[in-house]
Amino acid sequence: MTCYRGRRLRRTETLRRMVRETTLNVHDLIYPMFVMSGDGVREPIPSMPGQYRWSVDLLVEECRRLVDVGIPAVLLFGIPEVKDPVGSEASAAHGSVQQACAALKRALPDLCVITDVCLCEYTSHGHCGILTPQGEVHNDLTLQRLAEVALSHAQAGADIIAPSDMMDARIAALRAALDDADFCQTPIMSYAAKYASAFYGPFRDAAGSAPQFGDRRGYQMDPSNRREALREIAADIAEGADFIMVKPGLAYLDILRDAREMVDVPLVSYNVSGEYSMVKAAAQQGWLDERRVVMEILTGFKRAGADLILTYHAPEVASWLNG
Ligand code: PBG
Repeated sequence: MTCYRGRRLRRTETLRRMVRETTLNVHDLIYPMFVMSGDGVREPIPSMPGQYRWSVDLLVEECRRLVDVGIPAVLLFGIPEVKDPVGSEASAAHGSVQQACAALKRALPDLCVITDVCLCEYTSHGHCGILTPQGEVHNDLTLQRLAEVALSHAQAGADIIAPSDMMDARIAALRAALDDADFCQTPIMSYAAKYASAFYGPFRDAAGSAPQFGDRRGYQMDPSNRREALREIAADIAEGADFIMVKPGLAYLDILRDAREMVDVPLVSYNVSGEYSMVKAAAQQGWLDERRVVMEILTGFKRAGADLILTYHAPEVASWLNG
């Protein structure tokens, strides 16, 4: 009989474990959560089965469970009470993200609290910045507002600031604003290569942040471009980004691999809302083995080069990894 090498090392689970090149760990996971005002609120998000909008009190309780299963970090998105053209509530001390940061740092000091810095959830027009009279997003006016938002998060106790707006030069602007206010120890996790993706659909439902006119293609990246992502990443690192993110995940694994080869800062993959909801929908139909599919997807992000994975599957994955 001819002997081949391939299957010799796949014969038993012990052998497979010994030669495994990539392993997913609970410490790799960051859980994105939506926070809103009120008390005792846990509102299901229809397009994201298993995900909720939380009031601060119940968010803290849920985060206690996350800490107990070993999840190191959450990423917070705020749902405002009122929206206006400049997204005032995004930087308000009484805003739900600011309140959540303070409450989480009090109750769970070891949990790493990351905050999304953007305006689209807070603006009445649903764009990620301040509009000119012509209806275009004004880059530098937006930078000023983003700096106010980032500062309000840092002041409330955020451990990491994560800008997702895709304005030019925002990392330099936020770094300067944080340093000026003595937050030089607050790292920035940059959504460096963020594509204009239809996979954000369920998120926009959850956050009520779909643009009221037009789309985000004027500031988010064209899905066809690869070299441009490397320019965006290089610019953000030069401006002082501490973490680099590629978003979305599955359709952009080549970008993640390119980024891994290019940078030596921690690299983050965002397994976005649409990717989550596709798996949930197929699993609900009984068409996919959810657990195996999710583990395969997340292992793929790590194999491609991610150090950390933002995923709505985080609590389930933690229970599988611990179980
Ligand atoms: C805000 C923001 C979005 C997401 C993260 N931050 C939506 C968007 O850009 O429209 C998407 C996250 C997801 O789909 O899970 N700019």
